[in-house]
Amino acid sequence: MKLGKLRLSFFLLLCFSCSQTWGQGPEDLEDNPSIQRFRDYLRIPTAHPNPDYGPAIDFLVGQANEIGLSTRTLEFVPKKPFLLMTWKGSSEQKLQSVILNSHMDVVPVEEDKWIYPPFEAHMDEEGKIFARGSQDIKALGMLYLEGLRILKAKGWTPLRDIHVVWAPDEEIGSTDGWERLYNSTEFQELDAAIVWDEGRPTPEGNYVAHPGEKALWWLVINATGESGHGSIYYENSASENMFISLNAINTFRDSQKSPVLSGEKTIAEVVAVNSAYLKSGTPTPDGGFTINVQPSVVEAGFDIRLPPVTGIAKFMDKRIAEEWAPKNRNMAFHFIERSGLTKDNEIPVSIADDSNPWWVLLRTAISKFNATLTPEIAPASTDARFARLLGITAFGIMPIEHVPFLFHADNEFMNGYEFLKGINVTVAIIDQYASFPGPLVSAL
Ligand SMILES: *[C@@H]1O[C@H](CO)[C@@H](O)[C@H](O)[C@H]1NC(C)=O
Ligand SMILES: *[C@@H]1O[C@H](CO)[C@@H](O)[C@H](O)[C@H]1NC(C)=O
Ligand SMILES: *[C@@H]1O[C@H](CO)[C@@H](O)[C@H](O)[C@H]1NC(C)=O
Ligand SMILES: *[C@@H]1O[C@H](CO)[C@@H](O)[C@H](O)[C@H]1NC(C)=O
Ligand SMILES: [Zn+2]
Repeated sequence: MKLGKLRLSFFLLLCFSCSQTWGQGPEDLEDNPSIQRFRDYLRIPTAHPNPDYGPAIDFLVGQANEIGLSTRTLEFVPKKPFLLMTWKGSSEQKLQSVILNSHMDVVPVEEDKWIYPPFEAHMDEEGKIFARGSQDIKALGMLYLEGLRILKAKGWTPLRDIHVVWAPDEEIGSTDGWERLYNSTEFQELDAAIVWDEGRPTPEGNYVAHPGEKALWWLVINATGESGHGSIYYENSASENMFISLNAINTFRDSQKSPVLSGEKTIAEVVAVNSAYLKSGTPTPDGGFTINVQPSVVEAGFDIRLPPVTGIAKFMDKRIAEEWAPKNRNMAFHFIERSGLTKDNEIPVSIADDSNPWWVLLRTAISKFNATLTPEIAPASTDARFARLLGITAFGIMPIEHVPFLFHADNEFMNGYEFLKGINVTVAIIDQYASFPGPLVSAL
């Protein structure tokens, strides 16, 4: 420990210009093996659009071997592997398993906006570790492994099987990821009772867990009509019909936006509707538009996020069919994406109160740290939605306090000290979940 510091000071004496690039974290963190392993994982570039999962899997299999977890990979789509790690439970009874899920991929970076290279896992003197994925969500994956490592070292054994799932492609909609896994026979064989998936850190301290999330719809509507001279009022022109719809959509949007801006509601509690594009016009050869011709078709695309409120999908479907794109105004619509709904058109939410033993167990673990646990609907999608669609309880929780929420942000970082605290919370949660003797419950 000492030697390392001496060598560094000596080097700095010889090379003043190096001192700026030779940033170093606090000695206790630099020397901490959990921090070193976390930073090693962060240095594996798994960013879209071309995540190479091979090196990540190699690293993780190495971790599993060290800890003593069995591993296997599942490849539903070539080059889109899942890695599964398993710790068999000791129960004689057939108890359903505990799944610890995280995705290996990360979103792209705009490198010139980063103060430190995003795949170097630079640690500053306050213990902040800068890297893409340092929050979303490589931190959580490494918390699971560090937690399991401590439990192994203690001689603890789970009653229930624990499966650590490492998923591909979450950040691009999971089409080749969880959407392939969740209804596979391999997944059914895991026989999960509870899925722990990604949540957010809390800048203010204490912990939040996501029992559900908003459903994602990408809607395209269009209006068609006679094209004609720019000087005439036609009945039912494409533009006129689209304008009526845009007015209706905007009125609805205002009704959802106002309570958020006034602080009455959070974005997670309302329907979010945002315009993605408006497409129309009669092109001219030079790339412009002909002004004296009314177009025969106008198209618009919207990103819509629905909160998990009973009946909301039916309500929105009716609104879209009757007000936003009604046939009697020569309008039509389709969805590019419409995910997170059950067969009954509902958005599943896990029960986050004392009637659900999995919630009680989570709260019990958290209370050992004198902290509170608050349920909060996630504003965007996670892989947990697939588990909930099967009726499996799923909570999204990142047991990290006092770190700002920086998912997908430039200069995303994790605080090393908070990460170490998070390992202890993770140990407590895994202990609660995997030691829970029963009964068999499906609490969704
Ligand atoms: C799994 O679900 C997808 C849609 O999410 C569906 O296309 C596929 O047929 C399902 N597979 C099985 C085995 O049920
Ligand atoms: C309008 O939308 C409908 C439904 O998506 C589609 O079938 C149709 O081709 C579209 N019409 C035009 C002119 O783009
Ligand atoms: C728990 O937190 C409360 C409020 O911050 C504090 O008053 C109390 O002393 C803490 N208890 C323990 C055991 O740390
Ligand atoms: C984690 O728990 C261990 C054992 O109780 C304790 O010694 C250690 O200080 C804790 N670490 C942190 C960062 O709180
Ligand atoms: Zn994520």
